[in-house]
Amino acid sequence: MTEDFRILFVADVVGRPGREAVKAVLPVLKAELQPHLTVLNGENAAGGFGITAKIAEELQRAGADVITTGNHVWDQKQFVDELPGLDRVLRPHNYPPGAHGTGVVVVEADGQQVLVMNLMGRLYLPDIDDPFRAADAALAAHPGIRISLCDMHAEATSEKVAMGWYLDGRVSAVVGTHTHVPTADARVLPGGTAYVTDVGMVGPQDGVIGVDKEAVLKRFLTGIPHRFEVAEGSVTFNSVAISIDRLTGRAISISRHDRVHD
Ligand code: FE2
Repeated sequence: MTEDFRILFVADVVGRPGREAVKAVLPVLKAELQPHLTVLNGENAAGGFGITAKIAEELQRAGADVITTGNHVWDQKQFVDELPGLDRVLRPHNYPPGAHGTGVVVVEADGQQVLVMNLMGRLYLPDIDDPFRAADAALAAHPGIRISLCDMHAEATSEKVAMGWYLDGRVSAVVGTHTHVPTADARVLPGGTAYVTDVGMVGPQDGVIGVDKEAVLKRFLTGIPHRFEVAEGSVTFNSVAISIDRLTGRAISISRHDRVHD
């Protein structure tokens, strides 16, 4: 057992190109970084919209231990019923009571209990319950677990930065997802929480946040909705690795690991 506990977090996987990149890149990156736990956001893995049980299993076979989601979690109709039967696949914890599935899981990895939590912001997204109080409730329900990671899926950078400060010293890491554009602010906050506003995506780099750029441009230029398809070509693979002190649960470091898969 090594002294630090390492978590690899892989950004939003977009469509088939994203899934193929995960299969190609993730095993290589895991061999290099030797993470004890790998968490991946899969909410755009099914054609850019949502996820299915089959795709979740495909991503878990490729090396993801836990899968998080966000506002697109219910896009594939069958997933509403599939989700409760899936081990280690989360939807945002701050969905109102009665929503299928769960937003928190405790997993055992390399002799450690690790809490993984999924939250969703409310700015420019569906107006669900308060993510800050949902985080409080999740942590209160799991006392004594030192190592924890929170995927804060949100549009607004301000809301993610605020969550980083709110959970600083209370979780090992807060990683932001949803915008598909990586930010350059990865650091360990003073209380010992590793933080990054957005990890980015695993998706086609020549589209608009993974979507075919022609359709997006037509929509911006004319205001008329066009069918969005996942873009093609080279895939950007964005991830962060977090090193955590096993005794204190405080983050030691957070580093970006970005690749391009042709
Ligand atoms: Fe999203």
